Amino acid sequence: MNFFELVKYRRSIRKYEDMQIPREDLERIIEAGSFAPNAGGGQRSMIVAIRDREISDKLGKLNVASLRRDHLIGGNVSAEQPSIIDDPTIKSGFYGAPTVVVVFAQHNFLYSVPDAFCCAENMVLAATELGISSCIIARAEETFYNDYGKALMAQWNVPENYAPRCFVLLGYCKGEYPKIKPRKENRTLIVE
Ligand SMILES: Cc1cc2nc3c(=O)[nH]c(=O)nc-3n(C[C@H](O)[C@H](O)[C@H](O)COP(=O)(O)O)c2cc1C
Repeated sequence: MNFFELVKYRRSIRKYEDMQIPREDLERIIEAGSFAPNAGGGQRSMIVAIRDREISDKLGKLNVASLRRDHLIGGNVSAEQPSIIDDPTIKSGFYGAPTVVVVFAQHNFLYSVPDAFCCAENMVLAATELGISSCIIARAEETFYNDYGKALMAQWNVPENYAPRCFVLLGYCKGEYPKIKPRKENRTLIVE
């Protein structure tokens, strides 16, 4: 697969096999994240990978609990890979992924959120290259801003002025790989 094929092949996966991904692959994915573009060249993001089921199960439940259903604007995310928006019976916002990567970024910095998501995008593309499925997950702040989350951040030596910004799930797709989603029209323009 060349790069352009890989970009089109990547999907957000929400059904995972139990099998863990190799640590060497995780290290390469994290390294790709650390090479993401970053505002002002400040390298202000911090990546923490969780491979402890007890921790990821607890955080996954907190991630669901933080979803404000009354704020949803309708529509379904995916019939093949239903999200917690599509299926309220799903109890973990991490969908049982064996590895959950958290991206932290400097709190009081204007580009904190884009920095973190650039990092996440590099990681999902690197994962695809390695044959590993992935999904970017939001509501990181809500997931960590409680006694349990704050204790973990302290334990991991996350600097005080850093905030959790997003997650990247990693694992192997269980069942059929989802089909390509057609692109909506009229979303691009080239002005010459
Ligand atoms: C900023 C951002 C936040 C997202 N948050 C979630 C999330 O919290 N839960 C989830 O299941 N998927 C989440 N996704 C994945 C999107 O739902 C997914 O990218 C979208 O449905 C398009 O599907 P595809 O990635 O398979 O092309 C997020 C994606 C982005 C870019």
